[in-house]
Amino acid sequence: MGKKQLKFNSRTIHGGQSPDEAYGAVMPPIYQTSTYAQSTPGGHKGYEYSRSANPTRTALENSLASIENGNYGLAFGSGLAAIDAVIKLLGPGDEVISTSDLYGGSYRIFKKIFEKFGIVFHFVGMQDTAEIAKHINAKTKLIWVETPTNPMMNIIDIKLVSQLARKHKILLAVDNTFATPYLQLPLDLGADIVMHSATKYLGGHSDVVLGALVVRDKELADQLYFIQNASGAVCGPMDSFLVLRGIKTLHVRMQRHCENGRAVAEYLANHSKIEKVFWPGFPDHPNHEVAKSQMKDFGGMISFVPKGGNYQDAIKIVEKLQLFTLAESLGGVESLAGHPASMTHASIPKEEREKSGVVDALIRLSVGIEDKEDLMEDLRQAIE
Ligand SMILES: Cc1ncc(COP(=O)(O)O)c(C=O)c1O
Repeated sequence: MGKKQLKFNSRTIHGGQSPDEAYGAVMPPIYQTSTYAQSTPGGHKGYEYSRSANPTRTALENSLASIENGNYGLAFGSGLAAIDAVIKLLGPGDEVISTSDLYGGSYRIFKKIFEKFGIVFHFVGMQDTAEIAKHINAKTKLIWVETPTNPMMNIIDIKLVSQLARKHKILLAVDNTFATPYLQLPLDLGADIVMHSATKYLGGHSDVVLGALVVRDKELADQLYFIQNASGAVCGPMDSFLVLRGIKTLHVRMQRHCENGRAVAEYLANHSKIEKVFWPGFPDHPNHEVAKSQMKDFGGMISFVPKGGNYQDAIKIVEKLQLFTLAESLGGVESLAGHPASMTHASIPKEEREKSGVVDALIRLSVGIEDKEDLMEDLRQAIE
């Protein structure tokens, strides 16, 4: 059976992979080298210098392309380095429409780095596609979607946005970090670029920082490869290896993240001291139907606000948690808790943050793959 036809779970393990040519190693060796011997100028075996390409990185890039149903994968030193490469497709005067509820670091690179170079960013709530249409003009070159959004867990209809983007010949990029290709495949839904902070679920073990892009179009891939090499924000072979290893268990980890996520979301929703729980799996979540149609399940990311919406109560809870570690990041096997207003989203001004619901009492959970009973017991003792 050709690897192209493999189903998702098999592709996480085998997609784009073949045993190493030298000794048949099943996992690609960590080619810890900066350069490659040439027999004559240009006489090499496909690799010249590891900024341009490295065999371990190639193995990861092939896996990334395979799991996202794309044709070309590109790996970077971090998720932000991948975003940086996408925005470098643009020039001064070009405009970008981005979700208003997004990772604080994405907001920061847009506003604090690229605005200086004359790129204009509009931040809009994208649950209603009509809001996006209002900001489209002849200079609009890119729509930036994050879904589910971080940390409010809103869902954006990728297919609907892609129809709008296509009509106006605008590129559509989707940050698929929260969902992963296990839950949703943005390229299949019409996106041009999929972006990942592979630091999160793809790596899956909180031991590496890495970013990724996947596309189908050859011309777009060539432009991005050019930027990857010319700007140089690549990942090393060891980090490539770690993410490749992580991807091989993505499907089983995600299945458990979803199962535990559901249990924790329902526990919190029924708790008398909790005011509001944000998780797209609830039938009364405003975008539940879209989530149901574009995602296979609802994931392990949950945000919530304690009753009364008091900042001090939220801080007390995150300080008392024992199994959930209070830490930045998400998507690892261990459960983490975060306080977006002072941690992941501190770079967004308070008025902007609160417009999208990121109030000072909001707590975000990345539900890991421990026993769900232990996770609920930890929340019980922290909330009471
Ligand atoms: C949704 C999302 N996108 C992008 C990033 C940035 O990725 P990295 O931290 O790997 O640079 C993050 C990091 O938290 C994220 O959560």
